[in-house]
Amino acid sequence: MNDGTQNVTSRFREKYQAAPVLFFSPGRINLLGEHVDYNDGYVMPAAINMGVYYAIAPNSTATINFYSIDFDESFSTPVTGVQKNEGWKNYVLGVVDQFLKLGKDLTGFDCVFAGDIPVGAGMSSSAAVEAGLAFALNDVFGFGMNRKELALLCQRAEHTYPGVQCGIMDMYASLNGKKDHVLLLDCRNITHDYFPLQLDGYRIVLLNSKVHHSLASGEYNVRRQYCEEGMSVLKKELSIQSFRDIDDAADLLRCKDLLRPEVFACCKYVVEEIGRTQKGAALLQQNDLAGFGKLMFETHEGLSKLYKVSCAEIDFLAGLAMADKNVLGARLMGGGFGGCTINIIKEEAVNDFVEEAGTAYQKAFGILPEAYIMQTADGTRRL
Ligand code: GLA
Repeated sequence: MNDGTQNVTSRFREKYQAAPVLFFSPGRINLLGEHVDYNDGYVMPAAINMGVYYAIAPNSTATINFYSIDFDESFSTPVTGVQKNEGWKNYVLGVVDQFLKLGKDLTGFDCVFAGDIPVGAGMSSSAAVEAGLAFALNDVFGFGMNRKELALLCQRAEHTYPGVQCGIMDMYASLNGKKDHVLLLDCRNITHDYFPLQLDGYRIVLLNSKVHHSLASGEYNVRRQYCEEGMSVLKKELSIQSFRDIDDAADLLRCKDLLRPEVFACCKYVVEEIGRTQKGAALLQQNDLAGFGKLMFETHEGLSKLYKVSCAEIDFLAGLAMADKNVLGARLMGGGFGGCTINIIKEEAVNDFVEEAGTAYQKAFGILPEAYIMQTADGTRRL
């Protein structure tokens, strides 16, 4: 048993005097394909060895009891009284609500959970919470749903309770990750392939800016609206179904005057990023990490200048990486407005880079960033 499992197990026994079933659900990194999961694109996430631990057991009553160790807060509700709440509660209640909406025979249960993913770092702590609970309830109540169905359920939960109109990437990656592998997830068909992550002498390092601008979820939904607005025009003008059907940049340019400038900029980014992800998948399979890294830098430029989801702190960290010859590629990772950069760094240069970047960042913003050397992991599982 590691610390995470021990922690939830002992708290569960203390609170509910019963033996729980244990689960782990990982966070994720994403190598390429940002803000395209809700635009029918491709993404390249991998599950990581940080995540959320669950201890859970049906309690033969009609009451659901949650205890979040991280917030040191309990919450109980009758199964029939599940409704939207606030904060962490919405991530778990949203999942329960979706099972109930499907008419699943869900009765009372006790649940203790705790995570070791930094919150707000763009590493999908919320998807790990949702996926972990969905997987655990499906298992202990024997609902028989598969991982894809569970991912879609979690996405609906996030749309309805926390109210973020997220794509499918985070919960799908959490549920379907495979150690030492990256997923190439096709977000239109919701299917994936795995391929081995061969880093030969390089490491994936996240630098946490430790800033999380509060506009994040509102601005996220705004980007989604821009893309929808753009697509409704492009569909008619170019007779296409989705962004991935645009394979000639000239086609998009022809429609520029029909779109508001901010909408055009977002559409341009999305079309380019879908192309980059396809190219990147091929490069990674050929073991061309240098070529792949260049695409990551391009993605950062696009996220910052076109999609406008970066911020001064993250641009600063990405800039340091771009100026360092030992960094093959770096970019903002996740939804944006703070969180982490993801960097591919030569193994022997990792310590120096982290130290130098830390000093420079602290001088500029008065915050010491945190660095995590990433290890991939299997997806959500019973322990
Ligand atoms: C968040 C969302 C994902 C995805 C990313 C950006 O993590 O939850 O669905 O859109 O942002 O790529």
